[in-house]
Amino acid sequence: MRVEGVSKRFGATVALVGVDLVVPEGTVFGLLGPNGAGKTTLVRVLATLLTPDSGRAEVFGRDVVADAPAVRELLGLTGQFAAVDEILSGRENLVMFGRLFDLSPAEARRRADELLEQFDLADAGDRPARTYSGGMRRRLDLASSLLTRPRILFLDEPTTGLDPRSRNQIWTIVRELVREGTTLLLTTQYLEEADELADRIAVIDHGRVIAEGTGNELKERIGGQILEVELASAARRDEAQAVLRGVGCGDPEPEARPDRLTMPAPRDGLELVEDAAAALRHAQIDVSNLGLRGPTLDDVFLQLTGAPASEDGQPQSSTPAAPAAVVQPVPSKVPTPGREPERPARRLLRLHVPTPAEVRSALTDTRVVTGRNLRHFVRQPQLLIFSTIQPIMFVLLFAYVFGGAVKGALPHGVKYIDFLLPGIFVQSVAFRATQTAVGLSEDLERGVVDRFRSMPMARSAVLVGRTVADLVRNVLIIGLMTVVGYLIGFSFHAGVLNALACVAVVSVFGLALSWIFAFVALTVRGAEAAQSAGFVVIFPLVFASSVFVPISSMPDWLQAFAKVSPVTLTANAARTYALDGGVPGSLGGAAAWILAVLAIFIPLCVWRYRRMS
Ligand SMILES: Nc1ncnc2c1ncn2[C@@H]1O[C@H](COP(=O)(O)OP(=O)(O)O)[C@@H](O)[C@H]1O
Ligand SMILES: [Mg+2]
Repeated sequence: MRVEGVSKRFGATVALVGVDLVVPEGTVFGLLGPNGAGKTTLVRVLATLLTPDSGRAEVFGRDVVADAPAVRELLGLTGQFAAVDEILSGRENLVMFGRLFDLSPAEARRRADELLEQFDLADAGDRPARTYSGGMRRRLDLASSLLTRPRILFLDEPTTGLDPRSRNQIWTIVRELVREGTTLLLTTQYLEEADELADRIAVIDHGRVIAEGTGNELKERIGGQILEVELASAARRDEAQAVLRGVGCGDPEPEARPDRLTMPAPRDGLELVEDAAAALRHAQIDVSNLGLRGPTLDDVFLQLTGAPASEDGQPQSSTPAAPAAVVQPVPSKVPTPGREPERPARRLLRLHVPTPAEVRSALTDTRVVTGRNLRHFVRQPQLLIFSTIQPIMFVLLFAYVFGGAVKGALPHGVKYIDFLLPGIFVQSVAFRATQTAVGLSEDLERGVVDRFRSMPMARSAVLVGRTVADLVRNVLIIGLMTVVGYLIGFSFHAGVLNALACVAVVSVFGLALSWIFAFVALTVRGAEAAQSAGFVVIFPLVFASSVFVPISSMPDWLQAFAKVSPVTLTANAARTYALDGGVPGSLGGAAAWILAVLAIFIPLCVWRYRRMS
């Protein structure tokens, strides 16, 4: 793997500045740096999730931008936050990802069993992943990246936040993978971890590689170990410092507590501790604690930059001192025009005709994602109940509270409940469409979409799988509402075919709305924001329509709007099918709206999805 002059900025934030790295095949490379250093950004570039602003990167000779699909075939990605499906069980997660990696159902199941066994998850395999501990989640996440035995694996902070036992389990797994020949890029905030696992380490800070070498080279630079002394009285700190320097300690690190001294211990540790203790006693300086420890990331940073590792990722206001002596100085590269590789311009329209195999694989991917989303729905029956309670309340409210007032405006001989229910179908799918945004937002936030995007699967499957699952769910909800309707006096008047046509027109309308909300989710970050944004649009649209009351009962200025509203046109079409049969007069208008929405929002969604980098 080779990274050349990769830079990336997010608005004013510079995340990567001319990063160069070479990772030989079959080795473990550790990327060590504090929060905000740019580790995740680099991993996302390499995993084809982000396009660099400049520079290039290749994995096994394939460019991560120009050749992204080929790169996805080779890599496994375990992101910083476990991207597992919380609702599915561990086994279902693995089978799903296996199917998306183009394994047959039988192969996917076999491989899932193998991995559950290997990752010590066999007992928990059938429990929903949301019941897993942090360590189990991490292991499941790691297993999900290994279904097809990737040749290169990216592990972004695999042990951050884990207890020591879980950390050891991950380390064992990583060592096994390396034995099998997997190339590994690992990011971490712990020098100890990089030292333990990696053949070579690059220290990254503010988007720049500031040092590179083996763990030993880095540690030698700091002089091996660190002596920590806690004084009985802070008043004698300066004296103690002079005494310790006398026995060979280096310059003390900045320390928040005045009664503590932290100094590099370049000499043989044990002897130094003895000498330090004797010298302090001789000077009659009381010490409450004295010990040696291994160096941490902070110690490395102090040595390399003269400043502790900062967390903000922003350039520090006081320019860090030039590295005193870097293990292997890495000059920060300014991308020169001559080095800049040619990259094909991003094509807006891909005129690639898919092969039959690609179509088959895309269909499988879509089916798998749809199935997964439907499973969510089945596993959370409370969602189905809430999805129907609210329209039922509207039915009761309007039928019994406002029904009397509306009666006069109804067409001759039509019962209010018969008028109301087709409208309620439309209202239900309209309100439920915001769930498309919520579901997609959650997948985005939890990193599930990133995992999908890093896999060699059909790009369309995530969006189509989401909207189609919501379509199926809408049909179910309409069915339930029909049952409720029949209990309180509603009936379809025009036979089964017309009843089905009624359900169909409402469902297709719901599908169109789902695409609008998919776009909202891809544009507005956060599930709650997406839902709120949705309601701002849906509420007025639904109430200013013929859903609950005939529009003839509305003020004139509102009628003008309500008459052409897609909600009115769809509700009227559904009503005609339910009550009279035959082709509804408003069908043309409704169909025009639906087609227009699909024609606009499907391409918009695809564009947003592709542009997520
Ligand atoms: N999508 C993004 N939008 C804006 N800023 C971002 C984005 N991703 C990362 N950054 C910023 O880029 C810098 C590097 O972040 P990151 O690569 O996540 O660091 P690390 O993984 O080392 O903690 C940080 O300052 C971070 O705030
Ligand atoms: Mg990170």
